[in-house]
Amino acid sequence: MKIIGLIGSYRKNGNTDTAVRKVLEGAMDQGAEVEAIYLKNYEIKDCNGCEGCKTTFECVIQDDMQKIYPKIMEADGVVIGSPTYFYNVTGIIKNMIDRLYCYEVFDEDDRSVWMGIHEATGIKYATVVAVCEQKDPEDLGYTAVTMTRSLQALGYRVVDELKIYNVFNKNELLLDTNQLIKLEKAGKKLVKTILLKDKILNIMKSKM
Ligand SMILES: Cc1cc2nc3c(=O)[nH]c(=O)nc-3n(C[C@H](O)[C@H](O)[C@H](O)COP(=O)(O)O)c2cc1C
Repeated sequence: MKIIGLIGSYRKNGNTDTAVRKVLEGAMDQGAEVEAIYLKNYEIKDCNGCEGCKTTFECVIQDDMQKIYPKIMEADGVVIGSPTYFYNVTGIIKNMIDRLYCYEVFDEDDRSVWMGIHEATGIKYATVVAVCEQKDPEDLGYTAVTMTRSLQALGYRVVDELKIYNVFNKNELLLDTNQLIKLEKAGKKLVKTILLKDKILNIMKSKM
């Protein structure tokens, strides 16, 4: 089983990096193969709304997103994390999500009929991690909801939406043992959820 971590912070070893890697650690403990993907190291251009992807489910823009698409498609589960920048996700996370528009399919005559390709090919699983400096949930703004709703639209079930408040300095989260335990547990839960799906499928198959 493969779980990828999409890290949307520009700060290596910052709080989002720590949080996502902790979830991946939990997943690894549960037997998953994991990979941390630092989006800041990839050139991801804006979606330009050309709609060139609509029949092929492939984006026409040739940049580093072409390296990320296969990783997303191959992964059984995704951990996505972003710091809060002005009440929302960072630019790199937003750019990456927008570029997943090629996996959103619409009926030709009626655009109210649509689905994410994972919904058609087999639902996938995700853990969302949103990080912010302030203590008040208002100050997290739309960070968690932007990632959760987008992944749901693409055909993911979001198993956990983790919100981390009150961290500012780069390694502050590392000092919060309770939070780290929660993150690790979430990683284990993500893997256990996928294993449960496999178990159900196997039992169903044996009945056929
Ligand atoms: C441009 C910018 C905007 C920010 N906006 C918010 C905000 O709206 N709410 C908040 O609580 N923290 C805000 N922060 C603080 C970060 O979310 C916080 O420091 C977080 O821990 C950074 O995560 P990182 O260590 O993964 O980079 C902002 C930081 C920056 C640089």
